[in-house]
Amino acid sequence: MEMVRLNPPAELTMPVGDAMYSQRAIRRLDPNRPVTDAQLKIILDSASKAPNGGNAQPARYLVIRERGAIKEFGKLYFEAWWAKRRDAYGWTSKADIPEDSQYRFAAGLADEMVNAPVVILVYSNSTGVAASSTFPGVQNLLLSARALGLGTVLTTLHADVMEQVNTMFGVPSEMVFHCCIPIGYPRGNFGPTSRLPTSVTTSWDRWGNPPPWK
Ligand SMILES: Cc1cc2nc3c(=O)[nH]c(=O)nc-3n(C[C@H](O)[C@H](O)[C@H](O)COP(=O)(O)O)c2cc1C
Repeated sequence: MEMVRLNPPAELTMPVGDAMYSQRAIRRLDPNRPVTDAQLKIILDSASKAPNGGNAQPARYLVIRERGAIKEFGKLYFEAWWAKRRDAYGWTSKADIPEDSQYRFAAGLADEMVNAPVVILVYSNSTGVAASSTFPGVQNLLLSARALGLGTVLTTLHADVMEQVNTMFGVPSEMVFHCCIPIGYPRGNFGPTSRLPTSVTTSWDRWGNPPPWK
């Protein structure tokens, strides 16, 4: 059989299991440790290798590097985040968020977005299956960033700010926004994560039958 040369970048040496089991939401990023263009190319190249419907490759990535733009975007993210929680729950400060709520972490990200060395906005150039075709690439992106020692967190944007964000960066109106990913070296540690056991999430042969490792 003919040998296929894959030529993955030499920097992506972390075993895939280690990357998957230690990748977690990193919301506090080091503003003083730069992420290089070469690292971003590795990350985006790995995203481009992901499965997608009919190999139509609808995903498009907007990489925001410019400090002033990230500061402006971060302020918008902060305002939108709090506007949404004010509308939904009447919260106006962190003291209003219940102790055990995951929103406490998300509120931290609203503070931190301005510090992100890089922000990637992920779009697709069409609707329909395009969203499902975009997220496998996003997962590759998160894992390859982890393999390079870079922290990420997948986040969304409030619908109210989408027009402002798209205008700010000249995004054409036909692009469909999917998620926003700040990237940088972590202030804090990677994994492990806490997830439901697969004995709870998995059925075997018939819905509700447990898997053999139950
Ligand atoms: C579709 C989606 C939307 C998310 N939105 C946010 C968000 O708006 N803000 C945030 O801080 N984290 C967001 N996250 C990250 C999740 O909160 C995180 O993956 C989850 O809590 C597990 O965290 P862990 O991997 O650190 O254990 C989102 C993740 C996904 C997949």
